[in-house]
Amino acid sequence: MKFTRSNSLKGTITVPGDKSISHRSVMFGALAEGTTRVTNFLQGADCLSTISCFRQMGIRIENHPEEILIHGKGLHGLQTPSGPLDTGNSGTTTRLISGILAGQDFTSELNGDESIQSRPMKRIMEPLSLMGAQIESLRGNGCAPLRIRGSRLHGIHYTSNVASAQVKSCILLAGLYADDPVSVTEPYLSRNHSELMLRHFGASVTSTGTTAAILPEPRLCGQEIRVPGDISSAAYFIAAALMVPGSEILLKHVGINPTRDGILRVCRDMGADITLLKEDSGAGEPTADLLIRYSPLHGTTVGGALIPTLIDELPVAAALACFAKGTTVIKDAQELKVKESNRIDVMVQNLRAMGAQITATEDGMVIEGGHPLHGAVIDSRLDHRIAMTFAVTALAADGETRITGADCVRISYPGFYEDLNSLCRQPL
Ligand code: S3P
Repeated sequence: MKFTRSNSLKGTITVPGDKSISHRSVMFGALAEGTTRVTNFLQGADCLSTISCFRQMGIRIENHPEEILIHGKGLHGLQTPSGPLDTGNSGTTTRLISGILAGQDFTSELNGDESIQSRPMKRIMEPLSLMGAQIESLRGNGCAPLRIRGSRLHGIHYTSNVASAQVKSCILLAGLYADDPVSVTEPYLSRNHSELMLRHFGASVTSTGTTAAILPEPRLCGQEIRVPGDISSAAYFIAAALMVPGSEILLKHVGINPTRDGILRVCRDMGADITLLKEDSGAGEPTADLLIRYSPLHGTTVGGALIPTLIDELPVAAALACFAKGTTVIKDAQELKVKESNRIDVMVQNLRAMGAQITATEDGMVIEGGHPLHGAVIDSRLDHRIAMTFAVTALAADGETRITGADCVRISYPGFYEDLNSLCRQPL
């Protein structure tokens, strides 16, 4: 797919539903008694993988254009799947479902695509094993395919060495089936959608600092969930508006949970003009309309506790830093190496191809901004966040950019190119 320089971006977009919250609505809805109704569900390939896994375990899920209905069967209502569960490209599906499967009275197998088969699963295998689960990496390399024999699980307190909501959520979900309370402490607070939503469904979950705890065997009840717009998807338009002079855009009903809003903090720190309108905290997940106006930016340092709050936005933040005056340092972000691709590697390779001054470090990147970019051939490595990052970067670069494997955006944002086009549509 080809992209060229754009004139200023103008207009209003409603980004699709949050991926993390959409996954959880299906999983928790399946384990609840009664029907869960979800609106603004993200119809991305990752969330569809979650739906198909639960269908394979006997949960009836109606996927209508306006709403999805999950007919939950309670904590102990899942059935033995007929074959291996296919988690596709989705780390969230793989890791969260593993926590649930560990507490069932059947054996199951999980597998996904090539990317999933190289992502680290020891981070969940270790705590689940400590709880008494029998979980095996079938190739013995700590990755999927996994075989999980459901077992009696015990309560633990686990100290994780990564700030990962997938690890934390996996342990909390296994905690639903344990014989004693389960708690997990992480080095920094990761996104807390599981804690908020499990509480909403009726579980007893507490959060103190970077520790989350859950009591076993709650009675979960079906709920109504309106999924907020995904700030990780909004980030591409925020960056585009800040890269292309004269832009002014409005993004409606975006989730601004403080465990997810790091991209707003970093952009503002770089000098971005971002206004929050219609702030609302209705269903426990705060939202706002975001008004973004083009602004000249300067470099910044991003690290520490901020990293988990924008982990998926770091690729687009690195691209944005190319347009900021001075140096930007991204550190403490070694987790980028184990995402859908090695995102440090792929960002450095592709931004350099466009003429950027960027260096990889052990735990991040250093970018010298202010050097004009030119078009190039970009290898997305089939990573949706890389494809979207370069689609917007190309709008502020000279010449033509070609992105290979560009349709991988279907993982998290099937209508991305149409929405981006609608903001660029003004004639020059
Ligand atoms: C997610 C957590 C993050 C994030 C991923 C979604 C979630 O992963 O990168 O896209 O829904 O819990 P980690 O928790 O592994 O950092």
